[in-house]
Amino acid sequence: MKHWRIEDVAWDHFDPAAVDRVLVPIVKAAAMVERNGSDYALYLNGVFRDDPDFRQAADRWALEEVQHGEALGRWAMLADPGWDYAASFARYRDGYKIKVDVDASIRGSRTGELIARCMVETGTSSYYSALGEATQEPVLKQICKLIAADEYRHFKLFYDHMHRYLQREGLSKVSRLRIALGRITESEDDELAYAYHCGNEPESMPYEHRRCIAAYMARAMSFYRYHHIQRGIGMVLKTCGLTSRGAMSEISTRLAWQYLQHRRSRFARQTQRAA
Ligand SMILES: [Fe+2]
Ligand SMILES: [Fe+2]
Repeated sequence: MKHWRIEDVAWDHFDPAAVDRVLVPIVKAAAMVERNGSDYALYLNGVFRDDPDFRQAADRWALEEVQHGEALGRWAMLADPGWDYAASFARYRDGYKIKVDVDASIRGSRTGELIARCMVETGTSSYYSALGEATQEPVLKQICKLIAADEYRHFKLFYDHMHRYLQREGLSKVSRLRIALGRITESEDDELAYAYHCGNEPESMPYEHRRCIAAYMARAMSFYRYHHIQRGIGMVLKTCGLTSRGAMSEISTRLAWQYLQHRRSRFARQTQRAA
């Protein structure tokens, strides 16, 4: 059972005057990446082929991710009535594909796979919390709040299964941290950049990773506040079996915050130059 339905959103409270135009392109991109969740469920079904409990959980999880895409896509069409979600998503599906017929994780182990999933959910849970707090538009605020709560539940789901596999596979804290950091840096790969391209740029314009990731990140990174990073770092440390409070957490948060500011200004400069 999903925790909420599209019809639960108060769509008639949509206020066009309250739409922050900087947000619309990144909501379009996020809608497509979320909508693609069903492919990840196929991939996870391959990796965990002999674990029916997890496979069932992964299928339910994907239904929620697809719903995130549907809600964000519907909002983006209200914010920009000229935007065609279905057509943009079809373009995205054509050009961005993950390998689904697998029998092992690309992370080297099932624990590793679940750590990577925890990182994705940490990222999305922080991201929608930040977006929901930043926007003044009531419908997007409600959607982000609903999605952020789902993402946190997803984190807990993958975290619990990760612990189950950790007992069998016994990955060290260093290996866990390496996998976690590796997945975090992948957020600057093609998945979001190409979604930004398909959602916001005409088909006649060739895709260029550098331009698109800069345009996406310059916007997205500007919505985070310190407490979002603090909470996210706590989740990363917890996943790796490290203490999520105290000096280590404080120093890591400060470093991550500085790094985020540095990346954000770099992406903003790049975007300005391109314009
Ligand atoms: Fe999601
Ligand atoms: Fe999620």
